[in-house]
Amino acid sequence: STPIGSLPPSAFKVNASNVRYTDDHIIADYVYSNAIVTSNECGSINVTPTNTKYTFKTELKVPKVGLMMVGWGGNNGSTLTASIVANRNNITWRTKDGIKTPNYFGSVVQASTLKIGVDEKGKDVNIPFSNILPMVHPNDLVLGGWDISSFDLAKSMQRACVLDYDLQRQVAPELEKLKPLPSIYYPDFIAANQSDRADNLIPGNDKNAHVEHIRKDIRQFKAANQLDKIIVVWTANTERYADIIPGVNDTADNLLNAVKESHPEIAPSTIFAIACILENVPFINGSPQNTFVPGCVELAERNRVYIGGDDFKSGQTKVKSVLVDFLVNSGIKPIGITSYNHLGNNDGKNLSAPQQFRSKEISKSNVVDDMVNSNKILYKPGEHPDHVVVIKYVPAVGDSKRALDEYVSEIFMGGRNTISLYNTCEDSLLASPLILDLAILAELMTRIEYRTEEMSEFAPFHSVLSILSFMLKAPLVPPGTPVVNAFSKQRMAMENLFRACIGLPPNNDMLLEHKAP
Ligand code: NAI
Repeated sequence: STPIGSLPPSAFKVNASNVRYTDDHIIADYVYSNAIVTSNECGSINVTPTNTKYTFKTELKVPKVGLMMVGWGGNNGSTLTASIVANRNNITWRTKDGIKTPNYFGSVVQASTLKIGVDEKGKDVNIPFSNILPMVHPNDLVLGGWDISSFDLAKSMQRACVLDYDLQRQVAPELEKLKPLPSIYYPDFIAANQSDRADNLIPGNDKNAHVEHIRKDIRQFKAANQLDKIIVVWTANTERYADIIPGVNDTADNLLNAVKESHPEIAPSTIFAIACILENVPFINGSPQNTFVPGCVELAERNRVYIGGDDFKSGQTKVKSVLVDFLVNSGIKPIGITSYNHLGNNDGKNLSAPQQFRSKEISKSNVVDDMVNSNKILYKPGEHPDHVVVIKYVPAVGDSKRALDEYVSEIFMGGRNTISLYNTCEDSLLASPLILDLAILAELMTRIEYRTEEMSEFAPFHSVLSILSFMLKAPLVPPGTPVVNAFSKQRMAMENLFRACIGLPPNNDMLLEHKAP
């Protein structure tokens, strides 16, 4: 394949009659091809191809964007901040293995490529993912956020014990200047063992005042940094699940009323989500809890603000969404999946409490459902592999999480295949680039609108950004729509949507030009 390097977005044009470039937009007419399947009582199946016309309009100007992280002083928040500072200033550092240079490995947007077409010789031409449409560069993000711990970002980075000392030493002067804003602490929602770091709090118990406080923080950050847009990502501690209570958090109006009454079942993360929605700021949840209670989803839909979640998909679950995809699509039947994790960072400490572990267990558990349900040859209705997830806190391993997985599968003629995996995850170094992808793609989505033949005006997509599923363990999808966990499908959905926006058909790997020249 031929990587063609980092093209500026303006250098790349699609020559086709269905694509128009204006000074401000790319407008692409697109035919979405699908097939509708019906079956009658006798079980015979009819498949009818369908074609729906869409027009996509993408704003070309990349705005000045602020990324505000909730839990900024945590391992992910401080690692990402230090890494962006290192990248911006091209800081190199010495380790026992030699001199290291900064990069954005692990970010799909920054470090992966996609096939845009073939050259005259029929060889694939791949471009950086970030060139498919104009996107914000991580170095240009203005960083800010909140934490219940008062540590500045330099101290937070030291506490995290993630980055090499020689790098920490060089970025510390800049990080010292960055201080998280005070945040909301409802002790009931995170593990009791977190209380000793909670020294940077918005006072009081009035939840409505808390929403207003966060809204004001967002507005002030935007004004102070002259930003066009802000994206907020929750990378704070995993909370316990909130109970869904009729009359409290089941509808948007009930939720807003419950906030006014400071109802105890409204979590800090939901307070942040509400504040963002009311400020027209996209909010992404990187932790597993049910921040997006039904009332919160309805509020986002009503205000047409983007939300996305839940739970960064960085290590064990990412592997699972690849491996089960591979097994089931090879006609092999996984019957037992057992996943052990041990980790020694503050996330692990928080997850050592049963209710917070339960949030993580739920988010890690449903990841194989779509792949299992897709194959009725292997699985009878209702049949499911045994699937167990264990997480233990072992301080000695620090941020270097270990994930041990065993996949037992039934193969040909009653045989058994067992795959055993040992993954040293380096948790925050895998998760931090996902924060970038989520923020950058959420921002891009705010600049894309669509129109079908029935619509007179362009409109934004559904508020729940399922297009972000690739980066998330338990993808939030619009109510009543399918959840896709399989790695390759999630990646293709992103690629093909962005290709559609520049008027290109979905990628396919038929290579017909070589097979039937
Ligand atoms: P961490 O524990 O180092 O950082 C969390 C930070 O959030 C802490 O600094 C804490 O003081 C702060 N915090 C807690 N409650 C807060 C609140 N209400 N408002 C503001 N700040 C608050 O954890 P880490 O490793 O950075 O992970 C963050 C989250 O991301 C966790 O929920 C974790 O489960 C999730 N996650 C992490 C992955 C990884 O690989 N690192 C993967 C998937 C999810």
